[in-house]
Formats: sequence, C-alpha cells, structure tokens
Amino acid sequence: MIKAVLFDMDGVLVDSEDLSISIGIKYFESRGYKVEKKNFLSHLGTGMSDFIYGTASEIGADDVTVEDADAFYQKIYSDELKSHDIAMKGAGEVIRNFRKAGMKIAICSSAQRWKVNANISALGVSPDFFDLVIAEDMIRRNKSNPDIYLLAISILGVDKTDAIVIEDSPGGVLAGLNAGIRTVALTTTMKREDALKSGADRVIKDISELKDIGNPEELENYLFGTRDKEILYGASYIKASGCPLREEIINRAVKEALSARDNAYAPYSGYKVGAAVLSATSGRIYRGCNIENSSYGATICAERNAITTALTEEGKLGIDLLVVASDDYPPAPPCALCLQVIAEFARPDTPVILVDTEGRRTEYVFSDLLPNPFIFPSMRK
Ligand code: THU
Repeated sequence: MIKAVLFDMDGVLVDSEDLSISIGIKYFESRGYKVEKKNFLSHLGTGMSDFIYGTASEIGADDVTVEDADAFYQKIYSDELKSHDIAMKGAGEVIRNFRKAGMKIAICSSAQRWKVNANISALGVSPDFFDLVIAEDMIRRNKSNPDIYLLAISILGVDKTDAIVIEDSPGGVLAGLNAGIRTVALTTTMKREDALKSGADRVIKDISELKDIGNPEELENYLFGTRDKEILYGASYIKASGCPLREEIINRAVKEALSARDNAYAPYSGYKVGAAVLSATSGRIYRGCNIENSSYGATICAERNAITTALTEEGKLGIDLLVVASDDYPPAPPCALCLQVIAEFARPDTPVILVDTEGRRTEYVFSDLLPNPFIFPSMRK
C-alpha cells in the first residue's frame, strides 16, 4: 500500500523556469549587461552555477559570480513570486488530497532550502504542511544517487515498497529507481519517449492527472493497476503482467539474444543474428536465431523465430521488449519483413535494443523503426 509520496519539486509541483529567467534578466541588467530570454534557454535545469556562468559566457559578462547572483536571487525571489504563478496545475489539490487520505507527503529537492521554501509558498501552504522537506542542505551526493530518497524513507519510517517517487528528469527518475522505490515519471520536462526509456515504473503527463485521487488504493490502481488489464499490442489486446521493465530483465534479454545468436544457422551469409522477446503476459523471455536455407528465400530471421517460439508456447503475444544481437556496429535494425511481423505484437513504445557481440547497445522504441505499420483494417481498434 502506498503510505508515502516523495515529490521532486521543480518540474513536478512548480515550474520556476520563467521566474528564474525573469530574475536572471534583472540580475544581469543590475550588473550592467543587456540580456534576453533566449540567452538563458540552453542553460536551464542544470543548477544555478551552469545557469549563471553559461548565460554569462554567452553575453560576455566575465565578472559575475554565482555567489553574487545567488544573493541577488535570494533577495528578490519571494517578491517576484507574487507576480509569477509557478504552481503546476493541480499540484495544490494533489498534495491536499494525498494528505487528507492519510499518506505522508515529502518534498525531495536538490535546490537550496530558501528556494524550496519559497516555492512551497506558491502552492498556498507552508513547509510544515509536508511531513518532510529535504533540500540541498541535507544531502551530499546529488540525484541520480539514491541518497535523497533513501534518507526520505528512513526519516518517514516507511518501507521502500510503501513509497513512490514522482520525478520529471532522467537523473531524478534514476535516483528513485536506484533507491529501489517505484518511480513515476512526468512528461513536463522530458519528452514522452525519453520518459518511457528512463526506466520509470509509470509515465504520466503531469501532476494534474492525480488530482482526483482520494485514497491510496485508487492511487495504486491508477498508477500501477495495469496488472491483468488488457492493453493493445499491435493487432490484439493482451493481458499484461504490468511488471516494470527493470535493468536486470533487460540484461537477461540481452544475454539470451547473444546466446541464441551462437546457434544461428547461417552457412550462406555467415551473418549470425540472435533475438529475444519479452512476453507481456508471462514476463518470460523467448529466443530465436536466423536459420538459412539452400533456397535462400526460405531463410527465417532471428526475430521472427523468437516470435513464433513465444506464440507456440503462450498462444498469444504482447512484446514488452525486443533485443536483436548481431556482430556489426552500428547494429543493423530488424529487416522490413520482421518489422511488419513485430508490428502485429508490439506497441509503439515497446523498447527495441540492438546489441553487438561486444555488448554495445543502441536503443529505440518500436515506432522509431516502423512509425506507421500496416494493421489489417478490421483489427484497427
Ligand atoms: N537476418 C535476421 O536474422 N534478422 C534481420 O532482421 C535481418 C537479417 C538474417 C537473415 C539472414 O540469415 C542473414 O541475416 C543475412 O541476411
């Protein structure tokens, strides 16, 4: 049961980018430099130091320091907040509802405490509304290290399995996963594709998606209730196990694809291929290799072999992961014939990992390789 929700701050509950830029403009102007919004854009989200020095180098402001800028920010930040609404839509409702539902709520931010506290005020509450507020002053190693989240559950006194993390950046998602806590990724900062590849246990659009949730069971169901739910894979609905795609599972599938490759029968081309598919229903991995033929056209590719094996065993198939192993680099993607067959059983966001014999990986999602598959009209649901 979810007993604690650990929120990252910026990009999750508030969006302080515009505010940071507007204060940044005032800061540089106060030091005699003319600066525009566009000068800041590529230096956002990487911490105060990069933000200030990156922008400074772009406009030739050699004499500014991050300490000076930080003091300037601190002085006017709260005042500026009055004219900027930085609260994410639905954020206030979510924290209030979760608290009312008896869940512990914590902020786990790597920003300075004064800034975290100021940002919290934008949600219309004070810091003690939260059960815990972790800021930069409590952690030594930044995200993607798990420290911040491990500290949070230890202070809150909840088990890892009873907590969830909500994050918006790849490093933040990794911090949650590295702590062994189920992690939800938002697509406020990351592109959906990147969020799906981040390893997060669940991807949702933004925090407002959770604003009507009134108790821990509903939250559990909403976020992770894909268990036993039918999901459209290619041309059919499949009961997916809902198991998150963990690094260990990916590594196991890579190993299986490489070892299947050893059994390739490729006396004509000498080009050996191995493949592994992860079944969405059972979580089992099925392998295949290419099998060539004296009549060349009768050759079967590794991917299709893995798929037919999976179907033979389970009678239906949703592909949650496909790995293809060969020895060329950069690796060749599945042939067009295989892509069409994969399309029957995969989702657009199914990860496809190509690996060479040295273990170098190239990662795609299926829709990168075949964005518009043909699905028989009566099967298009
Ligand atoms: N091959 C595969 O196994 N998968 C693909 O997607 C592309 C090609 C095999 C078929 C043949 O045995 C060899 O590679 C050379 O075409």
